[in-house]
Amino acid sequence: MYDTPALREQFPILQTTVQGKPLIYLDSAATSQKPREVIESMNRYYYESNANVHRGIHTLSERATQAYEGVRKKVVRFINASSVREIIYTRNTTEGINLLANTWGRATLTSKDAVLITGMEHHSNIVPWQILQQQLGFELRHVPVTDGGELDLDALPRLLDSKVKLFSFVHVSNVLGTINPVEMLVRQAHEVGALVHIDGAQSVPHMPVDVQALGCDFLSFSSHKMCGPTGFGIFWGRRELLQEMPPFFGGGDMISVVSLEQGSTWAELPHKFEAGTPSIAEAIGLGAAIDFLSELGMDNVRQHEIELTTYAMEALSEVPGIRFLGPLDPHKKGGVATFTLEGVHPHDIAATLDEQGIAIRAGHHCAQPLHERFGIPASARASFYLYNEPSEVDALVVGLRKAQALYAL
Ligand code: ALA
Repeated sequence: MYDTPALREQFPILQTTVQGKPLIYLDSAATSQKPREVIESMNRYYYESNANVHRGIHTLSERATQAYEGVRKKVVRFINASSVREIIYTRNTTEGINLLANTWGRATLTSKDAVLITGMEHHSNIVPWQILQQQLGFELRHVPVTDGGELDLDALPRLLDSKVKLFSFVHVSNVLGTINPVEMLVRQAHEVGALVHIDGAQSVPHMPVDVQALGCDFLSFSSHKMCGPTGFGIFWGRRELLQEMPPFFGGGDMISVVSLEQGSTWAELPHKFEAGTPSIAEAIGLGAAIDFLSELGMDNVRQHEIELTTYAMEALSEVPGIRFLGPLDPHKKGGVATFTLEGVHPHDIAATLDEQGIAIRAGHHCAQPLHERFGIPASARASFYLYNEPSEVDALVVGLRKAQALYAL
């Protein structure tokens, strides 16, 4: 394991104050904080190597291209992909899912087909399919969620039939924290001939994720939740599938030949899916973040979160009127504690905590159907990452009691 106090020193923002109090950042499921090395890697690029990639026959452009393309190899190792050709640079998880819907989805799905999602998806894995459904007329099904916040696997046999061409589901729920049984779901989907896309936004930053072991066909995730910068993400797909898919955005860099008379042909993977000048500094920042996480070891990151979540669930259970959403067992969930507090609106909880320098998220967390399932409009969510400590959980508990004293009748 690693030494959390020493690790925290590598995150400049964790040394700052908010509202005159030391910052206690419990909102890493929304976006993580960034270590100095990630910030400096991007600064170094702008100070020393800034140039466009793939375009210039000059030293700076070659230097930028090498740094930018070198990150693909790091991503390959991090998720155990087979080749850099499978690593598509995007802006975020949302863009990855929109890419899948608008390329594979648009080319494949007809009104005779079905796409299966689940009742615990983020809006980013619901809305792109709804938009496409309006245009193509396929059926959009979802696996219901149990009262305990897990997928209702008994419902799967009637939902997963040969009409289903894609099962797209979240690996770790951003609200419930539930870790879904990916390998088993992949096996069942493949048995009926469906492909599988995993929303890895809340898993890749927090635990070892090996696409070959999971057996999935596509995976999307974001840089900014894993110590990297915003505006950057990865869409991974099996090479033979990507090869067959039409491009998403058109423009420079994604073409082989462009002719006004004969039309255009596409570049080789992965560039076929990457049009226009990309986010170069952000790619380099993700590379630094992957180095940082790999050095810590993703098993250690996961272990730290299990220990902290165990501590948090016990401490928070002592707060009267608290009701958790999702599994209670920290081994079955990611590093989140999502709850309601009797008599206090989640926004009032968040505002009271903010006055004490504590950042959490309140609202529907981009998962309105899931909140509807539990009969509530909103919840409060504390989310943990590799830099959080038990003393911060203690401060959260004190803050919640204060909110109760202020607002609860
Ligand atoms: N999806 C992010 C969250 O859960 C933004 O907060």
